[in-house]
Amino acid sequence: MREEGDREVRLIRLLKRSEGFVSGEELKQGLGITRSAVWKHIEALRASGYAIDAAPRKGYRLDTAMLPFNGVELASRAAPGAIGARVRFFKEIDSTNTEAFTLGRMGEPEGTVVVAERQRAGKGRIGRSWESPPGVNLYTSILLRPAVLPMDAQKLTLLIAVAVAETVSGFLGCRPSVKWPNDILVGPRKLAGILLEMECEADRVKFVVVGIGVNLNMKRNLLGEPLSSVVTSIMEETGKEVSRVEFATELYSSVRKWYDLATKSGFDAEGFAPVIEAWRGYFASEGKPVRVRSFGRTIEGVCEGIDPDGALLVRSPSGERLRVISGDVEPA
Ligand code: BTN
Repeated sequence: MREEGDREVRLIRLLKRSEGFVSGEELKQGLGITRSAVWKHIEALRASGYAIDAAPRKGYRLDTAMLPFNGVELASRAAPGAIGARVRFFKEIDSTNTEAFTLGRMGEPEGTVVVAERQRAGKGRIGRSWESPPGVNLYTSILLRPAVLPMDAQKLTLLIAVAVAETVSGFLGCRPSVKWPNDILVGPRKLAGILLEMECEADRVKFVVVGIGVNLNMKRNLLGEPLSSVVTSIMEETGKEVSRVEFATELYSSVRKWYDLATKSGFDAEGFAPVIEAWRGYFASEGKPVRVRSFGRTIEGVCEGIDPDGALLVRSPSGERLRVISGDVEPA
């Protein structure tokens, strides 16, 4: 993030610490800048959506009931070095994943997040697109640099699904389900999608971009048919508007919690077991007939869950146990 951005994050933290006015002098001292620089940053923050009162001889007061959805607000809520402490925020972008991928190649550190109000060309799994209307949902990509082998990256897919499902549960008031590998559903309708893209060498992952799209306040019919009958949002389910800043903050902290757990053990089977267990708690297809499309083939059978590496297990009608590592599953 730009230096000015860092100062604005610190300024917002100082204003939030006090319920009343904070003097210009205190802000000047706290940030180590001149009074006119303080004023310049206050103006920039107002322009980005903050409501900040200014009163002679009193200083500045932030209206904490009206906090905007922007990069400064997101970064101000993250601990230093945590996921979301460095934010690249865009009013409009082609795809947050594409931007995060470019940043990954440029050496941006792990934990940087890209967020957009709207995506012009949001990407979904398997070459699909992701509808990204402005102002209502969350479109974010997280840059990670896990020390794992390329073949272990599939595990990360499940880990992110657990973090998204956990965060959604908190706002929904009940548990969503996960469709293998990582669609988040409420009943039959899709609420969130996850797209992992990575840059690898033969035996090493250089970085992973975790793209997450969550329908928060979108009205289903905004998308028109046929999509409107297969998607939902948290607001459609609960009738209540969700704060995008709060949702994103909880999401980053949940990703960090599960990621730290798995990284500590180098993603080995033992360290990853809690992730698999949590994922199974959201999985609704075990024991049910499924149809899987994978690499141009269609497989039908009974779903027997996932193995410790996150591959889907399907028992075919002839009794053979198939292991699927990539594809799309639906009830048969
Ligand atoms: C899917 O279910 O097909 C995956 C959808 C992933 C959408 C998110 S929105 C933020 C990030 N940027 C993108 O272009 N795609 C992901």
